[in-house]
Amino acid sequence: MEINQVMVIGAGQMGSGIAQTAASSGLEVLLYDVEESRAEAGRESIGKRLKKQVEKERMNDADKERIMRRLAVTTSMEKASEADVIIEAAVENMDVKKTIFAQLDAFAPAHAVLATNTSSLSITEIAAETKRPDRVIGMHFMNPVPVMKLVEVIRGLQTSDATHQTVTALAESMQKTPVEVQDYPGFVSNRILMPMINEAVYAVYEGVSTPEEIDSVMTLGMNHPMGPLTLADFIGLDTCLYIMETLQDGFSDPKYRPCPLLKNYVRAGWLGLKSGRGFYQYEGGSS
Ligand code: NAI
Repeated sequence: MEINQVMVIGAGQMGSGIAQTAASSGLEVLLYDVEESRAEAGRESIGKRLKKQVEKERMNDADKERIMRRLAVTTSMEKASEADVIIEAAVENMDVKKTIFAQLDAFAPAHAVLATNTSSLSITEIAAETKRPDRVIGMHFMNPVPVMKLVEVIRGLQTSDATHQTVTALAESMQKTPVEVQDYPGFVSNRILMPMINEAVYAVYEGVSTPEEIDSVMTLGMNHPMGPLTLADFIGLDTCLYIMETLQDGFSDPKYRPCPLLKNYVRAGWLGLKSGRGFYQYEGGSS
């Protein structure tokens, strides 16, 4: 299937990264968010990242401008009528995603593929909100999207081979490496990563060590490029909590219980890098 126009739903850290990567690979991109200011902020963050690339002489000003011209913003879901592929990257919440997919199904052309960047939620359940479950699929990018090579491509129970091929080809055209996985909670990446992060939070909660020391054990001792608590702050502690709850619900296994300290941080609004405070404090943070 030929893809010209991609629509990205949600202009946060992942949505803006996906939009940037799609536009950089030559696609026309429409970036949607619920408020104009958030959609614009997403586009601005892309401009800033590209400016850094120009400063590092990885691209020139003309390249940057060409990419920015391919990026339009909108607050109108009806614009889905112009898209060949829609990639949803709104908050990690099943009710929100179901509402979005029902709307997308109503507005998108019949040939359009509806993909979700969910970290852990059931593709099969999201697809069931539409009249085209064969055209719904998971396209799980890693953070930061412009840098990370992997895309987990998740097949829902009813996803067709044609949809899988379209999305695999799209990921490759965005210079990513797609890996096919089946639709079970957390897929592969977060089924393995999140229990490790949650265990690191338990180690803080139980006073085994400090966040700095726990991260040092994992970077220096295990050769991880980033410690689990730094990574949790980077992902967003709200997203980490949603994913642990999804694993716990999906497998009904107490080994996935989210750490009470993680819950408390999220209740306090300590969401990590994006809110200025999580396990670490960040410059410019308000909390
Ligand atoms: P974020 O909080 O940075 O951005 C979410 C965006 O969605 C916000 O701009 C918000 O205004 C928008 N939004 C909220 N309700 C909406 C609605 N009804 N319609 C459209 N937009 C809406 O979150 P982030 O980190 O970008 O995560 C987005 C998705 O990507 C989640 O499903 C998350 O699980 C997934 N993801 C996150 C990763 C991470 O490292 N943060 C990695 C891979 C996937």
